[in-house]
Amino acid sequence: MSKLAKFAAAAAVFGVMASAVAQSAPKLGLGRVALPEEIKAWDTDVRPDGKGLPPGKGTVKQGDEIFQAQCASCHGEFGEGAGRWPVLAGGAGSLKADRPDKTIGSFWPDLSTAFDYIHRAMPYGNAHSLSDDEVYAVVAYLLSLNDIVKDDNFELSDKNFTSIKMPNAGAFFDDDRETSEKQFWNKNPCMKDCSGEVKVTGRAMNVDVTPDNKDGPKVE
Ligand code: HEC
Repeated sequence: MSKLAKFAAAAAVFGVMASAVAQSAPKLGLGRVALPEEIKAWDTDVRPDGKGLPPGKGTVKQGDEIFQAQCASCHGEFGEGAGRWPVLAGGAGSLKADRPDKTIGSFWPDLSTAFDYIHRAMPYGNAHSLSDDEVYAVVAYLLSLNDIVKDDNFELSDKNFTSIKMPNAGAFFDDDRETSEKQFWNKNPCMKDCSGEVKVTGRAMNVDVTPDNKDGPKVE
């Protein structure tokens, strides 16, 4: 038998053995197969292309009412954030500032994240209490607070959801390291003197928290 044929025969025997082991693995007597209802209850993710959106609809006005009753105590009537709770609106144009205001409107690239997150986690402490229509309505209200829709009668639904473009969507791009750093993905990547000049393109902020020698406490 040639080496290759031997190897193929051995692999075939091993394959048969492996599947026999898998089939006859002793049961531990733990757990059971998840029910379709249980899988459905966990399977709530909504993707940027709209996949996973439940059927439903809600207007800015309806969302306003729900928001004032169930969200404003923490997030403020206009999403400005009550006390130190998270801000949900505003911040447009602030992303390059020293302290950017990252909100749904100024930062989030996909509306699906807002739907998914609210559907999954809000109101804080009472998650999963909103109906699908109520989630559409509060998301519509948040779009209005962020000036992404201007009409109070605007109705958000699973049908028009993906037509909403978020202001900062263009600032996100796919991870391109597989092509841009391709030179490193080989057996012997260059580890020394790889390129000519090294340029410092940024520095950590100087926050002046380390005392210099003169003023620092004396160490005995
Ligand atoms: C009891 C206070 C409270 C209530 C009421 C509440 N939230 Fe929140 N919300 C929070 C907290 C706290 C976070 C941050 C949670 C975290 O980061 O883990 C948050 C985060 C969020 C975020 C993500 C913000 C971001 O930029 O990361 C959204 C969107 C949101 N809430 C929407 C809502 C909506 C809509 C309602 C009403 C249906 C609501 N929340 C009710 C406390 C609250």
